[in-house]
Amino acid sequence: MIQRARRLRQNEILRKMVRETRMDKSSLVYPMFVREGENIVEEIPSMEGQFRYSIDRMSEKLESLKKAGVKSVILFGIPDVKDEVGSGAYDDDGIVQRALRAAKKDFSDMYFITDVCMCEYTSHGHCGLLCGHDVDNDSTLELLAKTAVSHVKAGADMVAPSDMMDGRVLAIRNALDENGFTNTPIMSYAVKYASSFYSPFRDAAGSAPSFGDRKSYQMDYHNRKEGIKEALQDVEEGADIIMVKPAMSYLDIVREVVDIVDVPVATYSVSGEYAMVKAAAKAGCIDEEKIVCEMAAATYRAGSSIYLTYFAEQIAEYMDRGL
Ligand code: PBG
Ligand code: ZN
Repeated sequence: MIQRARRLRQNEILRKMVRETRMDKSSLVYPMFVREGENIVEEIPSMEGQFRYSIDRMSEKLESLKKAGVKSVILFGIPDVKDEVGSGAYDDDGIVQRALRAAKKDFSDMYFITDVCMCEYTSHGHCGLLCGHDVDNDSTLELLAKTAVSHVKAGADMVAPSDMMDGRVLAIRNALDENGFTNTPIMSYAVKYASSFYSPFRDAAGSAPSFGDRKSYQMDYHNRKEGIKEALQDVEEGADIIMVKPAMSYLDIVREVVDIVDVPVATYSVSGEYAMVKAAAKAGCIDEEKIVCEMAAATYRAGSSIYLTYFAEQIAEYMDRGL
């Protein structure tokens, strides 16, 4: 036999030498929930090990992330009051805006991305303005743009629209530019499927739609070409980074998008993926550490270069241990 694949699998040093996929802490982004109130660190019931923080207690988590080597965070706000038009999203004194001002003061060496959407702020839980029983695309664009500008004014380093309205990347790009923020990047949740993997997040943020679902704006998970179309369109509209979401069940799409767009691609391993790993590990069915590493490697192998995950801090620690 001339070809022996096992020759390069003999020991760990050699296996690591010939490894095709390498991971780096600098590519990790940690999703974090900030809420109103004081002195609050409350565990999210459907996401064991994940918490909602009031602004005055955020720094504990930021400190430990920084120590672990995770320098990027994506912020989600949980307001106290919601209304029909999601005013809290674009309020300069809203929860995310105040959290940013506080965080940027003490953690100027970290990088803050904000999720730009309406669903955490609307009384009906949809990602935009309602017109009858549907979300109206064009009137929502204005509010998303306003939200993005308000975040950046408060200190956001990057904005990440997750609403799935058509044309929002361009609307946000124009609004940022008009306000002088020509250098603030947009990471678009471009290829975002209508997925049941988001339900723990909606518990965490209290953002489940009060009627219907998100299928008239988020993508049908049977579709592949549509994902490519969404990605290309957002690049054309000015997206600097394209995200595919969820991760685990969508790595075929990650690979295709990576092969076709000329910008970095991010993958978001969502709340349901996190909850499933936690539950299975707790039941003794899987080894959490090993599964988390395997899932992470798979997203990088699929070609994405940025990984948003609730396991970011653990992954950084596993990297230190050479896992
Ligand atoms: C807001 C938003 C959601 C997620 C990220 N941004 C929820 C949704 O679309 O319903 C999901 C994140 C996760 O499940 O971890 N639109
Ligand atoms: Zn939303």
